[in-house]
Amino acid sequence: MELWMGNDSQAIAEQAADRIEEFIRRKPDAVLGLATGSTPLATYRELIRRYRLGRIDFSQVRTFNLDEYYGLSPDHPQSYHNYMYEHLFRHINIEKQNIHIPSGTAPDVEAYCREYEETIAACGGIDLQLLGIGVNGHIGFNEPAEELEPGTHFVKLSDETIAANSRFFASLEEVPRYAITMGMSTIMSARKILLLAEGEGKAQIIRQMFDSGITTGIPASFLRLHHDVTVLVDRQAGRYLMNGREGAGAR
Ligand code: F6R
Repeated sequence: MELWMGNDSQAIAEQAADRIEEFIRRKPDAVLGLATGSTPLATYRELIRRYRLGRIDFSQVRTFNLDEYYGLSPDHPQSYHNYMYEHLFRHINIEKQNIHIPSGTAPDVEAYCREYEETIAACGGIDLQLLGIGVNGHIGFNEPAEELEPGTHFVKLSDETIAANSRFFASLEEVPRYAITMGMSTIMSARKILLLAEGEGKAQIIRQMFDSGITTGIPASFLRLHHDVTVLVDRQAGRYLMNGREGAGAR
């Protein structure tokens, strides 16, 4: 894994956007895997800015989101559908039919998850996957467990994740308990992965991701088996990595 350390959230956003911009320039119909949550917000703002400057053309880009809460309709303010349109899609020239976000209301969940995997495969797989990381080491909503699931699946969220995400809801009770998420193999099959982490709260898990064994207790530790992962952190999230671990791109 390559490590890149920047000063703050904006530095991470610019670095991530540089890589995404460059990727889309080389492959205009790139298949991007996208994340939600607080971490990618600055990156999405930076992508919108570059789109407005005419630097990025999203007209052929295809996207697949990592996850969606189960039980929330697309127009729910806290759904990841709503998040993606508010924070990225409605500001850029992406075609609606090229956007894929797991459905939070599919009645036949198993069939739906299979279909999501088939659609990713039909698009040729994910070229560039953007990831955040949960404080418990989850990626997507692949929560620490004795066994991890390979494909897109229905998942019960951990108490830690429910507590962490309650900041977006009026109360803890309102946080959905279930979600649909890409699986470990879906994520690991991406050709290139960018994992972003910022803030003191992520310092401990970032250290563990690099230093622990590869364990289902820290799903993000599996990224060490992937041949093209770049971890972009700010100084706070990377604080335990400072000693001799800064990558070539660190500044
Ligand atoms: C979001 C996702 C999650 C988040 C993670 C970090 O689509 O899949 O894994 O990336 O929970 O969330 P933030 O960025 O809010 O700390």
